[in-house]
Amino acid sequence: MADPSLSMPDLATRKAAGEKLVVLTCYDALFARLLDGGDVDILLVGDSLNQVLAGRRSTLSATLDQMIYHAASVRRGATYPLLVVDLPFLSYQVSIEDAIRNAGRVMAVTECDAVKLEGGAAMVPTVRALVERGIPVMGHLGLTPQSVNTIGGYRVQGREDAVAEQLCADALALEAAGASSVVLELVPRALAAKISASLRIPTIGIGAGSGCDGQVLVLHDMLGLNEGFAPKFLKRYADLAGVVRSAVTAFAADVRAGRYPDDVHSFD
Ligand code: KIV
Repeated sequence: MADPSLSMPDLATRKAAGEKLVVLTCYDALFARLLDGGDVDILLVGDSLNQVLAGRRSTLSATLDQMIYHAASVRRGATYPLLVVDLPFLSYQVSIEDAIRNAGRVMAVTECDAVKLEGGAAMVPTVRALVERGIPVMGHLGLTPQSVNTIGGYRVQGREDAVAEQLCADALALEAAGASSVVLELVPRALAAKISASLRIPTIGIGAGSGCDGQVLVLHDMLGLNEGFAPKFLKRYADLAGVVRSAVTAFAADVRAGRYPDDVHSFD
């Protein structure tokens, strides 16, 4: 069971105790209420919402106002898990001042517990500045979707020695800068396990094998709502797309046959 008094600084203690972290994305109050039952340690308002909910090609066009709207909705729905919010593209890369102002606004308006940002060495001064100003940070290494255009696609990162070494160094640098945890996305499992073993703070894997200290999945993907998306790492725990289709077919049949609304669902 998740711990209701968990805080971002406690994450390293959870790792030291060998307890895996359970993380899911969440974008709205309805799902947040469903996820508030104690199974989940951290809800992540990921900028993936731009693809999952808005049908965009990448996460790049997510805005700070959109992230705040969704994070505030999740906060209203869930009190139990920690709430981490993605800083969207260009809200933290232009200057440290921008990053502090934007991350601070996210924290103040949404009452989240931390922000997440992508990148390694180049982001270390920003992470340090945020943490020193009271803003906990979750890092994100490996496949960093905001850099998909320079990476050239959604590909596994760290198969080449030089890239693997850089990822190890980046993870250590983020920890030294004060990050409370780091997401490892699409990283070979041996490398992810090596990085995890080298850090005091937990790694949270997505497509990075079982050697990470926790796992995150996009909620809509693991519930089987996102039918077109089937990467190797994704395990579907339900077929909600099938449930939705059957329900709509049954409703349409009832309406056309005059079976709905019946006496039970009508007012006198
Ligand atoms: O935006 C997101 O949902 C994420 C997770 C995939 C880690 O960053």
